[in-house]
Amino acid sequence: MFRDDLLRDKVIAITGGGTGLGRSMAERFAALGARLVLASRRREVLERAAGEIRQRSGAEVLVHPLDVRDPQAVEAMVHSACERFGRLDGLVNNAAGNFLARTESLSANAFDAVVRTVLHGSFYASTAFARHVIARGGGGVILNILTTYAWTGSAFVVPSACAKAGVLAMTRSLAVEWARHGIRVNAIAPGPFPTEGAWQRLMPPGFAEQALRRIPAGRFGRPEELAELACFLLADGAAYITGECVTIDGGRWLMAGEFNALIGMDPASADALFAMLRAGPRS
Ligand code: COA
Repeated sequence: MFRDDLLRDKVIAITGGGTGLGRSMAERFAALGARLVLASRRREVLERAAGEIRQRSGAEVLVHPLDVRDPQAVEAMVHSACERFGRLDGLVNNAAGNFLARTESLSANAFDAVVRTVLHGSFYASTAFARHVIARGGGGVILNILTTYAWTGSAFVVPSACAKAGVLAMTRSLAVEWARHGIRVNAIAPGPFPTEGAWQRLMPPGFAEQALRRIPAGRFGRPEELAELACFLLADGAAYITGECVTIDGGRWLMAGEFNALIGMDPASADALFAMLRAGPRS
């Protein structure tokens, strides 16, 4: 989809970059010439991902184990990226925590665990990144990975919905506040993408077939499709896009449309139905 040097020499940090969608983005950024900082909790997972990415693309990859809930650890990640590469151009706030639970059964600690990972973690990383960018004279991109229920809300994932809604507000707020520093802040809202972590936590047995029926495109997303979108939003060609949240869900969240259930009808049955309605009142 893009020129091989789209992200040449850009230094991009990805939280949660060792697995799932974060890993897919990392692979693609590296293939397009970026240098990477992969940050998440488990060193061995990061080392494995970094080794495979280096082997495939020859990219330089720094691993930095951290918990995004620790602001000092996040600050140290920005510092070590600058020590190694001299600068940081992009930040992808991808690290997340989520699980299905009845909200009335959640402990305060459970709510905090998710909100502090998603909302506070994105805040800590974004501000640490911005301080660095502003100090060196400006120019950088932040990309927040959200979900479509950031605006619809969703039962059974209330801490995540609250936190992602907060990150959406942060995306739009910071896009305005930091535009003067040449920092763009955008977001991607994926629908369901079958990664191991998401499926294990959020897709109960038998639920996938049901979920699939509610996606107009008729399939789940492919991680590499999300990675392509991330590359576009991080690239210099997207310099005039900021404060935007791009949905990538095969039309899933729009299924609330009142008559959308009719898309399951074959054309002949739909025509017959509409003709009957047009003909006027039934006796
Ligand atoms: N249902 C209800 N409560 C849960 C839970 C679940 N499935 N999983 C964890 N919790 C609660 C714990 O019971 C604990 O609360 P308590 O102290 O009152 O008992 C609290 O959440 C913190 O859990 P802890 O085990 O200490 O984990 P953590 O803080 O390291 O974990 C999570 C953070 C909970 C978000 C964990 O799921 C995680 O690390 N996820 C990372 C990966 C991920 O979720 N990615 C998203 C893929 S879509």
